[in-house]
Amino acid sequence: MLLNILKWAGIVLGSLVGVLVMAVGFLLTRSNQILNKTYSPPEDSVFIPTDAEAIAKGEYLVTNVSVCVECHGEDFGGGVVVDDPALGRIVAPNLTKGPGGFGNELSDADFVRVIRYGVLPDGRSLLVMPAEDYTHLSDADLGAIIAYVRSLPPVDSTDLPPTELSTLARLLLGANQLDIMIAERIDDDMPRVPVAAEVSLEYGRYLANISGCTGCHGPGLSGGPILGAPPDWPQAANLTPGGPVGTWSEADFIQTIRTGVDPSGHQLVDEMPWRNYRNMSDEELKALWLFIQSVEPKEAGNR
Ligand code: HEC
Ligand code: HEC
Repeated sequence: MLLNILKWAGIVLGSLVGVLVMAVGFLLTRSNQILNKTYSPPEDSVFIPTDAEAIAKGEYLVTNVSVCVECHGEDFGGGVVVDDPALGRIVAPNLTKGPGGFGNELSDADFVRVIRYGVLPDGRSLLVMPAEDYTHLSDADLGAIIAYVRSLPPVDSTDLPPTELSTLARLLLGANQLDIMIAERIDDDMPRVPVAAEVSLEYGRYLANISGCTGCHGPGLSGGPILGAPPDWPQAANLTPGGPVGTWSEADFIQTIRTGVDPSGHQLVDEMPWRNYRNMSDEELKALWLFIQSVEPKEAGNR
């Protein structure tokens, strides 16, 4: 009798372990397929200028607007973006021509595919980098950004560690619970209509896209958890008229971005890149404010 029970318990336990091993194996295989999936975005030809004015515009954009420097570093020598005990490490590479950098390998067309469509030179999707915001960049602004990155002096990054996703991250990815495959989020057919740089709602919308406000705060600006961010990241604030920002004036908004302190005296966390945005011009901040005021009022966290 006892022997029989033990035997059955053994069989049940054995099959449970078997099912678990199969599930893990399945999810890891699935995550490999997701990571190695290749994409064929359109081949846009974007003019890359070489004049000093365009290069200065590129520097302005990568620092204060599209904040590439937050991840790739002020000198574009690369940096660790995520280092999380549970999820692993994600590294923004060195984009200069120095040792460990990609500057010599990337063609102009490669730059366009990465930044506009989230697709790496080998066809795989970019991880984490918010190309779904940058896909809105006009040809002129994208060209200026590439011109600037190409003009940078070489930086040595040979001691930058590599990207390494943890097993947990790969299991989550395999179960579709980790949203870091950027090419999946991009609409290759999105029309790009040039907008004049002036204090207008349309220009505000353009800036909100290319500077990542809509990426972190959501397309409707109502905030909530940031897509693909590690679990310990703060939630983005509700910027719609349905939240506290609804009672702000234009001056309150500009003051908040310039100082990092909101009208209630709250000091904004570093994850909100106000230190970069504070160098935006008055015209740009006024345009952003027109756009922020125009969105539908929502409760926080409804994207
Ligand atoms: C939130 C962090 C983040 C921001 C902001 C960011 N990047 Fe990246 N970038 C990354 C990461 C991470 C990778 C590597 C992705 C991978 O290996 O899948 C990357 C890769 C790249 C590559 C491809 C290099 C290669 O592997 O061939 C280019 C080019 C690039 N970034 C340019 C830019 C530019 C230009 C901007 C600003 C317009 C920018 N990045 C903003 C994180 C970021
Ligand atoms: C990388 C993610 C990220 C990006 C990009 C981002 N934000 Fe934020 N933002 C946050 C987070 C997180 C908070 C919450 C900060 C806190 O509570 O301290 C926040 C808070 C704010 C606040 C303060 C709201 C309040 O009630 O105090 C304003 C205003 C704001 N963001 C505007 C913007 C604008 C405008 C842009 C684009 C130019 C932008 N944010 C881009 C993450 C981001």
